[in-house]
Parts: sequence; C-alpha cells; structure tokens
Amino acid sequence: MKLAKRPPVYKTPQERDGLRTASRFNAELMDYLRPFVKPGISTEELDKLAHEYTLSHGHTPACLGYKGYPKSICTSINEVVCHGIPGKMLLKEGDIVNLDLTTIVDGWYGDQSETFIIGEIPDQTLKLVQVTFDSLYLGIRTLKPNSSVFEIGKVIFDHASKFGYSVVRDYQGHGIGKQFHQEPGVPHFPHPSSQNDILKPGVCFTIEPMLNLGGYETSLDRADGWTVRTRDRMLSAQFEHTILMTEDGPEILTLTKNGPQEGHKFE
Ligand code: MF3
Ligand code: CO
Ligand code: CO
Repeated sequence: MKLAKRPPVYKTPQERDGLRTASRFNAELMDYLRPFVKPGISTEELDKLAHEYTLSHGHTPACLGYKGYPKSICTSINEVVCHGIPGKMLLKEGDIVNLDLTTIVDGWYGDQSETFIIGEIPDQTLKLVQVTFDSLYLGIRTLKPNSSVFEIGKVIFDHASKFGYSVVRDYQGHGIGKQFHQEPGVPHFPHPSSQNDILKPGVCFTIEPMLNLGGYETSLDRADGWTVRTRDRMLSAQFEHTILMTEDGPEILTLTKNGPQEGHKFE
C-alpha cells in the first residue's frame, strides 16, 4: 500500500489492549481455518468459512468492501503475490496458497497472513516458503525499541538474497490501528527513507515480506483490478504478523500456540 507521509500513531496502554484483542481474534480465525486448507477445497469455501466465523463472533471482516474489494479474505495461489480474490478454483496437491486475514474488533484492526503447503510440493517451492517464513522472524528479531524501519528491510532483503530470491517492492507492510493502513510504511528492502522512521514504543505495524523465486516485478490483473501476480509468473510466498513495539521490544500480536511458531521447519 502506498501511504501519504504522516507521523506514526502512538498507542496508549488502553489502545494497545484494543489491538491485542483484535489481533488475537484474527489469529484464532487462522486457527479455525487451518484444518480446512487441504486439496479439493475452493478458495471461495475458505472465504465463506472465514466470513461466517467472523460474523458469528460479532466482528467485521476488514477486507470486505475495502476500496470495493469483493470478499472477506485474500487467497493468493502460487504466482499470485497478494490480493488474490477467492473463487471457484480448487486447491490441489503441489500448490502453495497464502491466506491473508484482517478483522476489525471494536474498531481495531488485526492483520496476518500465512502460506500453506498443499500436499507434497517440489523442494524448490518448500525452500521458498521456508526462507520467506524465516525472513519474517529475522525482521521481527532485529528490532528493539527505537529501531528504524530500515533494519527490517535490510535483514529481510539480505536473507532473501542469500538464496537468490527477490523481494517484492510494490507492496509493503504498514502501520495499523483504527485504520487498516497507517504510517509508517514498512518496505521489505533497504529503502533509504525508512531510516527516518523510528519504531518508538506504542507504534503498531505489520511485517509481511513477499519473496519471489524469479524477479521482483509484479503485474496487476486488469480484469479484476486486484490480483497481483509476479510479472514472470514464477512463484511467490508471503507471511505476515501484526507487531506492537513496546518498552520491552516487539510483541507479536497475531500469534497463538497453533500454526507455525518461530523456528518452524516446513516439510
Ligand atoms: N491484508 C492486506 C495487507 O496485508 C490488505 C488486503 S486489502 C484487500 O495489507 F482489499 F485486498 F483485502
Ligand atoms: Co498488512
Ligand atoms: Co494482510
């Protein structure tokens, strides 16, 4: 997302609890969906499950109607980088699919995504997923109170480069709060201007690296106006967490005991 340059928003202790609650619900939604992400299910069915779970808990899917987006979640398969629209397409053995979930709870947004491996996948695909996951945690663990946003992009880019992967530049992480997207923008490559964006305690933001097997360039689907693909149609993977910078360091808000934990090895 491209953002107009405004100062970041610092959250009060009460506001931080609002963000914690929204992110926790969003993570529980991911927990709910995880067992359904299997060969033979359509992305439309996953969307319906997410929609119903969210409404039945009294919350709001943030994506539905956002700038005219037609569904409740994003489902990005293989060469789709992000913002894939759920539809009739069935998941099949050998695919990777990213589920990007965002929920509004009492006005606060929680945002996260996870790439799932469908059945047996080629070693090359597995490696891309692993390196992308690891790069997210490297981005998180490099941070201390008052670190700059630049450090996130630097460690993610360096890690991806070691394996010959490219990092998407056209889409980035973002501040989050009572709006979906706020300052600071969080590029996943070392962008000079992000040196001036300091993560003081109280800043809440996402890290959501998209790594490509081929080139970093993307193309937007002209027909639906949303689906972002790699320009060379090679694979792309992504993971995302919502992070709160506290006086003690970064706190991952969109995490439960289920799903891949830090250090997880995909197989
Ligand atoms: N969840 C995405 C992000 O991480 C944004 C999706 S916007 C939508 O920023 F409209 F495509 F849903
Ligand atoms: Co996000
Ligand atoms: Co997201």
